[in-house]
Amino acid sequence: MSDKVVLAYSGGLDTSVAIRWLKEEYNLDVIALTVDVGNERDFSATQQKARNVGAIKALVRDAKETFVNHFLFPALQADAIYEGQYPLATALSRPLMAKLLVDVAMEEGASTVAHGCTGKGNDQVRFEVGVSSLAPSLKIIAPAREWGMTREETISYAQRHDIPIPITASNPYSIDENLWGRAIECGILEDPWVEPPEEIFTWTRSPNDSPDKPGYVEIGFDQGIPVTIDGQELDGISLIQRLNDLAGEHGVGRIDHLENRLVGIKSREIYEAPAATVLLQAHQALEAMTLSKDQLRFKQRVAVEYADLIYNGLWFTRLHQDLAAYVKSSQRFVTGTIRVKLFKGSCTIVGRKSPFSLYSYSLATYDKGDVFDQSASPGFIHIWGLPVRNQAQVQLTGETED
Ligand code: ARG
Repeated sequence: MSDKVVLAYSGGLDTSVAIRWLKEEYNLDVIALTVDVGNERDFSATQQKARNVGAIKALVRDAKETFVNHFLFPALQADAIYEGQYPLATALSRPLMAKLLVDVAMEEGASTVAHGCTGKGNDQVRFEVGVSSLAPSLKIIAPAREWGMTREETISYAQRHDIPIPITASNPYSIDENLWGRAIECGILEDPWVEPPEEIFTWTRSPNDSPDKPGYVEIGFDQGIPVTIDGQELDGISLIQRLNDLAGEHGVGRIDHLENRLVGIKSREIYEAPAATVLLQAHQALEAMTLSKDQLRFKQRVAVEYADLIYNGLWFTRLHQDLAAYVKSSQRFVTGTIRVKLFKGSCTIVGRKSPFSLYSYSLATYDKGDVFDQSASPGFIHIWGLPVRNQAQVQLTGETED
């Protein structure tokens, strides 16, 4: 009996070829594992395909709920956005897939796991660092990194072995999608001067054709977690799906990012992330109202660290646990409602309210009811400006010589 390998299986060309290749090159029986993170595929067809190509077993794990509650919402609470642009959809899914690969390998008594990533992306790092932090003794094989075939050669390998080639084989784009967003790369997009062609977008309408009237949506948060839309309670999955539809309809969530990969190259990535865009903006708006200035300043620094560690494949680390504990604690009073206007590709915050709001009308107003003691300001300015005056007196004298 040959040993077994659990392969992260997407149903695409590379991972289908990998099923056959792992048998031929390594004499391993392949268990194909497809993880449902909201990419809305026909999973029974994917399963069938894996078996036809030679997998001894084809498993599908519905991981949507775990993905939302343990990956997406904590990242939302952290305001994790890589390089200020990318909401990290793909990056967040990989550690979850790594965890499931490890679980299935244990259940099935497999010595090895495999993934379909090439050798120049981030995903290989995320899979392998993830797997090795959970199960250091598991072996890992990356067929597409090892076999050294060009795309044409992979296609002819598939033809030789009766592996069905998806109609999308002629489609030059590499696409990865889940509830948090859709990533599109390759083809003409590799020229950073070229505007992304309209055909690549499937979740968002072009702002040219989006409704001429703005859409409004109210998002209710409880301790940093979105729980209602327009007052209606929704589970996390439905809430994200609803916002993807709603904001996508208004052309919101298109991102064109010239991104720094972990492996040292810059790459041009296009994302569609309607729900993530709206939720991240709304969440930050609620924090602006409920966190102190110092909390906000500090949390922005944590957000950069948090985004980097997700991007760089360091999900299963102590540093992450430490930062996550801080983020969770920071969300205690991030409860309230944010009103968002969606219009022709833009998402604007137009209203906010919270039972824990630190915004005080009577302190802020210039109208009647003002309780701010303006007579205290001269004393405040006198002390605040003390070191500045001091320095000016000592160091600005005789400033004429260079
Ligand atoms: N650049 C993004 C990231 O590193 C998206 C990668 C998308 N992956 C893909 N196989 N198309 O997270």
